[in-house]
Amino acid sequence: MMKLGIIGWRGMVGSVLLDRLKTCGDLERFNTTLFSSTQKGLGPLGELKDSFDLKSLSSMDIIISCQGSDYTQNIHPRLRQIGWSGYWIDASSFLRDKSNVLITLDPVNQKDIESALENNQKDFVGGNCTVSLMLMALGGLFSKNLVEWVNCVTYQAASGAGAAQLKELFSQISYLKEMDLAQDILKLEKTVNDKLSRSDFPSKSLQHPLIGNLLPWIDSEMENGMSKEEWKGEFETNKILGKKIPIESLCVRVGAFRCHSQALTVKLKEDISLKQFEELVDSHNQWVKVIPNNKADSLKYLTPVAVSGSLSIPVGRIRKLSLGPGFFSLFTVGDQLLWGAAEPLRRMAQIILNHTEQKQDLRRDYELSRSP
Ligand code: HSE
Repeated sequence: MMKLGIIGWRGMVGSVLLDRLKTCGDLERFNTTLFSSTQKGLGPLGELKDSFDLKSLSSMDIIISCQGSDYTQNIHPRLRQIGWSGYWIDASSFLRDKSNVLITLDPVNQKDIESALENNQKDFVGGNCTVSLMLMALGGLFSKNLVEWVNCVTYQAASGAGAAQLKELFSQISYLKEMDLAQDILKLEKTVNDKLSRSDFPSKSLQHPLIGNLLPWIDSEMENGMSKEEWKGEFETNKILGKKIPIESLCVRVGAFRCHSQALTVKLKEDISLKQFEELVDSHNQWVKVIPNNKADSLKYLTPVAVSGSLSIPVGRIRKLSLGPGFFSLFTVGDQLLWGAAEPLRRMAQIILNHTEQKQDLRRDYELSRSP
């Protein structure tokens, strides 16, 4: 049995990953060890190992790290230096721009994953959440090489900023709970808005109110006026697709809990009908689903609340635009902890396992065929 080590399993992405591994029966196919930097003794899957112990880590065949970039930066090169040749699967962004690291999203780049494995590549990383969710939604258009450019406006959930930020959003909601609803509406609005600037209003992690507000900047500043999140949108999409498609983004944090939404304007290289567009989107993978462009269905199926906790990728509000031939707009939602983070990692471990077992079977057949 292949030995799988998981680091960062108590964080949001790690917990979702562990839950998916259990639900999908994957834990029965691996000999799984959980690593921790703070906890010792027994954990949910047996004895915990120290996440800074290179000897224990290097006894694993596959490591999935959901611990964050600092951990990867510290541990990954040291493991490689001591000659560890296992598979590293990472949730953090640290390795994403390295040339010998593949961003894994198998419904979109299964073939590239297979050839990377054939070429003995060992480092894999999950994509940025908005990138993975956008590609899951638009895979049918990209796979037909139809996309000339994309403009994307995101509405990103608090969970994308981290567990502390999501918790703080809940504290902010709770802070506002005492309201005199009998007050005149304008007075009430002013009272509530004034509370958002009080010194004891909880904003240590988010730095700003997120309830009743939105934050039009995500991640660090780049010199060209982009946020790092916006830069990732173009860089990672093209790295996954192996193309150079202009992808412009404006990334915004909103008070949704764990689902990112994106409003996309897509320019296609050729004009196709609305029906063809919908069919291409809908048929790409089993999770994407076109939502009819009407008010009732959009409000029922195309919201963060509807999608939260599910693998479903609804795509709706699809319209042909009056801007000219080949212009379409659409709106899509996805759970940033599932397809946006944990699920591509879980599936990558499965792909490695299947690949390794196939190789072992082939070797066994070959040896049997040569035995007298
Ligand atoms: N960077 C994302 C966000 C997290 O801030 O929402 C998912 O990669």
